[in-house]
Amino acid sequence: MSPFALTRTLPADATAAALRADVATGLTRTPKELPPKWFYDARGSELFDEITRLPEYYPTRAEREIIIARADEIATATGARTLVELGSGSSDKTRHLLRALTARNALRHYVPVDVSESALTGAAEGLLADHPGLTVHALVADFQYGLHLPPAPAPRLLAFLGGTIGNLRPKERSAFFAAVRAELAPGDALLLGTDLVKDERTLVRAYDDAAGVTAAFNKNVLTVINRELEADFDPDAFDHVALWDAREEWIEMRLRARGALVAKIPALDLAVHFAAGEELRTEISAKFREPGVRAELAAAGLETTHWWTDEEGRFALSLSVPVPVPARAG
Ligand code: SAH
Ligand code: AVI
Repeated sequence: MSPFALTRTLPADATAAALRADVATGLTRTPKELPPKWFYDARGSELFDEITRLPEYYPTRAEREIIIARADEIATATGARTLVELGSGSSDKTRHLLRALTARNALRHYVPVDVSESALTGAAEGLLADHPGLTVHALVADFQYGLHLPPAPAPRLLAFLGGTIGNLRPKERSAFFAAVRAELAPGDALLLGTDLVKDERTLVRAYDDAAGVTAAFNKNVLTVINRELEADFDPDAFDHVALWDAREEWIEMRLRARGALVAKIPALDLAVHFAAGEELRTEISAKFREPGVRAELAAAGLETTHWWTDEEGRFALSLSVPVPVPARAG
């Protein structure tokens, strides 16, 4: 059996249809808005990887520090025989986890799930070279619409790293945690990375770096729409905006039109008008506090058993297990 398999859980045209629907809805409402998953074509995935190496972007380094420090503890606590990872991207930090899990638990199965096929195939190549005996079953899927996980040996550890949970709105987060809880059997666990609330300057710099990589990542969504829907957005006609919403405790990324403009999207028979200074909201990145994370998980039937942070307390990794559903009386 080949150690690598790739499954698309949706028909090939579903992604195109979803993009059309999101663009048609999001660019005709006020304020204009798009879901962040459309950043991640091959170029967007590369730009995200570049972001993770920027001096201002601390979350990846902070989470890697925790994973390296706690990988053995995670392997022992979970006894996991399968690692499922949602929004796995380059799977770069995952290598440390896989090393501990393969050594301690004889884990052989890794199931990365991502909308970016190029990220999945690129990551698998390196992992298979480093871990002879590992089976990688990659899923091209949207983790917000049913997980469709293949059967794999239990117990399973489901990892959701990077703070990507913060890119979901509160209602989306509760639906996501409920779906994860429904997927977990007794003995399985969830490993969740959450970026923590901190001073505004550090946060804004992380999303508005001096080299302009985050700006290019933000504008990449326009390039995706141009390519996929034959639109004529000029990315240079927009400014990258990153602001801290202290009430919601999230960073918001937007694209602000430098002047009044019209973008044509022939595939949708649509002309989108922007007033000068009008903003398109492209991403939220929520930052968390420990009680809030525990409460959101508990509301979905997940009990947090471990909470680890990096030395500087910038980022947290938590381990949660499904709370048994009480048997019905009578
Ligand atoms: N986990 C990695 C990558 C984080 S970037 C890390 O910690 O560095 C976010 C990743 O999630 C990207 O690879 C992106 O393609 C993927 N992603 C974003 N929205 C998604 C969705 N709705 N379904 C599946 N994958 C998604
Ligand atoms: C993937 N996600 C957790 C990143 C974040 O920090 O919210 C995406 C990102 N957006 C701008 N920089 C990085």
